[in-house]
Formats: sequence, C-alpha cells, structure tokens
Amino acid sequence: MTGSSREVILGVGAGIAAYKSCDLLRRLQERGYGIRVVPTPSSLNFVGAATWEALSGRKVLTQVWEEIENVSHIAIAKETDYFLIAPATADLIARIAAGRADDLLTNLVLAANVPMLIVPAMHPNMWNNKATVTNVATLRSRGYLVLEPEIGRLTGSDSGQGRLPDTATIISAFDSMTGNLRDLVGVKLLVTAGGTREAIDPVRFIGNRSSGKQGVSVAKAAALRGATVHLIAANIDTESIPGVEITHVESTDGMRRALGESFPTCDILVMAAAVADAKPKDLQSQKIKKANFNTIALEPTPDLLAELAAIKGNQVMVGFAAETSDLKTSAQSKLLAKGLDVIYVNDVTDGAIFGKDTTQGMILTRSGEDIELKELTKDALADILLDHAKRQLG
Ligand code: CTP
Repeated sequence: MTGSSREVILGVGAGIAAYKSCDLLRRLQERGYGIRVVPTPSSLNFVGAATWEALSGRKVLTQVWEEIENVSHIAIAKETDYFLIAPATADLIARIAAGRADDLLTNLVLAANVPMLIVPAMHPNMWNNKATVTNVATLRSRGYLVLEPEIGRLTGSDSGQGRLPDTATIISAFDSMTGNLRDLVGVKLLVTAGGTREAIDPVRFIGNRSSGKQGVSVAKAAALRGATVHLIAANIDTESIPGVEITHVESTDGMRRALGESFPTCDILVMAAAVADAKPKDLQSQKIKKANFNTIALEPTPDLLAELAAIKGNQVMVGFAAETSDLKTSAQSKLLAKGLDVIYVNDVTDGAIFGKDTTQGMILTRSGEDIELKELTKDALADILLDHAKRQLG
C-alpha cells in the first residue's frame, strides 16, 4: 500500500486568486499533507505549472491525455484522501454541477469519492447569477462543502461578495472537514528525541548522529493537536516548545529513569531517540592519555523499548528503526521484538536523513499495514505517525 492518509488534491480554477493558493499549499504542507496540484488548463494563465511543481514537489498534469499509461484520472483519485478546489470559478462550478469531465480536474472530481471543499472566487454579479446560485446549491446537496466568498474589493474597481477567503479561513474549514484539528485533546503523549551519550572519560563519549529533529517535530505536532506532551530530550538544544514539558537527559540511564517516571501515565510513547547500544564497562574519572587510548571495553545498554513493552498496559508504542539494508524485514522483526504498535523505518545509507528536514522510509503497523513514504518533511511524518498512533489507541 502507498499513500500517507494525508493526500490532498488541490484543484485550481482560472481565477486571479490562483496565486493565493500557493500560500494555501505551503500551509497545508506544514500540517503534514501531501499535495497534488491539478490546475485547469486555463488557470495556467495565472499561475504556471512550474510554480506548482516547484512548490508541491510533484508532477503537474492538467489533461487525461498526459501520462496515459498511468491512467492518471483514476490513479490520482485512488491515492487521494481529501479534495480542495481553490479558487473555483463560475465555469468550474458549472462543469462540476453538470458532472462534466472535460479536463483532468473534473475527471478527478467524478472519480474520487472523498470529502470535498470548494472555495469559490469570482465577480459578485457572477456569484449572484441564478445559474451559479443553482449550481452551488446542487454541489451542496451532493455533500460538498462550498464556502461563501468574502466581501471586499475585487480585481478592477468593483467590490462586493466574490473574493477568495483568506488562507486561515480556508484552512480552518478544511480542518473541520477532515477532523484532523485538535484531535488529541486529553491524550498524554511521551516522546523521546536526540541521541544518548555514554561517557568514556570526563572528555569523551560514545554518541550517534541523531539531530533530534524528528522527535521535536512529533512533540510540536502533538501539542498543536491538543495532546499533553512530555519530551525527553537527549543532547539537543531545544529551546522551549509551546505546550511541551521538556526533560533533558544525557545518557541511556538518564533516559531510562525519565521514561520510568513518565511512561506509566502516558497514552502514547513515540521513541524517536537514537539510544546508544553499548557503553564503556568502566567510566574513567581521569582523562585517558592519548598513548593509552587504544581499546574501550563495552557492555550493552538495556533495550528501553523492550523493557517498557514488558510492563505496558494500554499504551500505544511507536518506535523507529534506522537501517541501511533490508528495511522491511528488519523493521518487521523490530516491531515484534519490541512489542510495538507502529514502527517507522528510515533508510540511513550514507548518513542520509541525519540532521535533515526531510526523510523517506516505511511505516509498518501491528495490524499488518505497510505504507511506503517517498521524501517528505519530518513535520509531515510527525502528523502521519500521530494519525496511526491515534488509530491504534482506538
Ligand atoms: N531503542 C531502545 N533502546 C535501545 C536501542 C534502541 O529503546 N537500547 C529504540 C530506539 O529508540 C528505536 C528502536 O528501539 O525506537 C529501534 O532502534 P534501532 O537502533 O534501529 O534498533 P536496535 O534495537 O538498536 O537494533 P540494531 O542496532 O541491531 O539494528
């Protein structure tokens, strides 16, 4: 299975307000949505395909005659979870109301059976014309959410009801349609981030390349969605995050103690930290001289997730795996061995992903789903993982 459960078609009609949808696209991406822009051919007079491709990171098609081998109008419809059209012109609304399929966008409207938000923008005379009034009523009777345009100055000197609502209004309507807003109120989320360090002597340590970005993204996203969030941060410079309690730790032992205190009362644990797998057997209290710095005897650290899995009640546990080969097989065995509900495995060949804002990999769940994720931001992954954790919570 592919797709993130946050896939959106952003349909763009030929209104001058099309440029405002560039900002809308960005704001939706920040909320973890993958956006496929499908402009009408004439809307490209206002905003060109190059802009949409650069912003969305996806190929832009406008006709069913492109990439025929992929049967785009059905393939894209199957991948999508939500449909948003902004701006919707009088002509586009009329074509949708009539059930026409004369470009890729209108084909997709017919083929995708998903929640639909339509945001009209046009001259007030066109909005108030009986034909448009009837068409809008038809769309609403089909269960589509059609926003009212805003009143104000239009292109040229006219004013009236016809302006595209501002991005915040569209986003809030979209959130109420998806139900993805503040859906974690009352949920206690515990998240670890960063990499633990094991001291060799007062100067040196064994550490790893984890930047902590993914765990911080999860903490931020969960707080925005209303969860009570406790972040256990290992060696990351996290200033305060609004709505997040932060405990700083250095070593695996420190993280183990902090988890021991908070885990019993949490609902979801997201274990994004890279925990050191071994520590020096003997901590030297004096700095080891260069001439004697030849070998370090190591002993394994406890597997924190496996320990918590053994004492867990109803908590949902999300783990991570960093692999350089056999991603799926390794992740599957870690999911089982560590008693996890969800695991995200990222491909860290050549140090890819560490310190970056983007990632790519695969989500596996206890219920047997496997979801491949092409390059996406760590913020987007955070929301997708929270969606899965919420589902497992029931
Ligand atoms: N983890 C843990 N305790 C450890 C090591 C890892 O709780 N001592 C957690 C990590 O936070 C992560 C998951 O286990 O969520 C998988 O981490 P990873 O390093 O990929 O797996 P390891 O168990 O260390 O296995 P290996 O290094 O052999 O691949």
